[in-house]
Amino acid sequence: MRIDILTLFPDMIRPIVGQSILHRAQVDGHVDIHVHDYREYSTDKHRSVDDYPYGGGAGMVLRVEPVVRALRDLDDERQALRILMTPQGIPYSQERARTLAKNERIIILCGHYEGYDERIRDYFDVEISIGDYILTGGEIAAMVVVDSLVRLIPGVLNNEDSAKEDSFSAGLLEYPQYTRPRVFEGRAVPEVLLSGDHGKIEAWRKEQALMRTKKRRPDLYEDYLKRKDNKSR
Ligand code: ADE
Repeated sequence: MRIDILTLFPDMIRPIVGQSILHRAQVDGHVDIHVHDYREYSTDKHRSVDDYPYGGGAGMVLRVEPVVRALRDLDDERQALRILMTPQGIPYSQERARTLAKNERIIILCGHYEGYDERIRDYFDVEISIGDYILTGGEIAAMVVVDSLVRLIPGVLNNEDSAKEDSFSAGLLEYPQYTRPRVFEGRAVPEVLLSGDHGKIEAWRKEQALMRTKKRRPDLYEDYLKRKDNKSR
């Protein structure tokens, strides 16, 4: 997969894609991540990328020309899936990450300032929001998307971690985990985990995952029950 990220703040992004699993995924050839400063696509003498809004009002608006020039340079034949980061987009989810991870090429535009010139939207395939809150720009949101989809590319994670992904795919929260010591400040590891009985451990974990999901995320729990119900019909 190739990912191009258009931003006015490449230094916000480079350290993140240069560490840990995102870094290793690039070294191992699973993904090719390019970060572009789209100010470089502005042709006026101040290299401006924003301007005052027509009709007046507070704040600046991102201009359409530098963005479209960047898109034509990187993806003249429109082969990439073009993603616009905005709080007005569709809510991001694990399911959306799974869909995005199937693309060969992705371009992500990170906005800044008060907003985009509305015409920018015509040049994008999908608008994504990572949640109902306003960030100072799209960079952190874009990193959330990149991180969550790169880990889904086959071969990026080892098998153990991939199995974890399967358990979230079931639509439940993770069961509680413990490691040494057996007792810490009076808090003991549940006996069943020390029993060596894999059947019992499995059953306990499933039950814990169900209880935890029901309590913390009743919305996910309802969806899970509905899906299960449909399957058994
Ligand atoms: N840009 C600013 N806030 C955002 C959000 N919540 N999601 C995606 N992009 C954004």
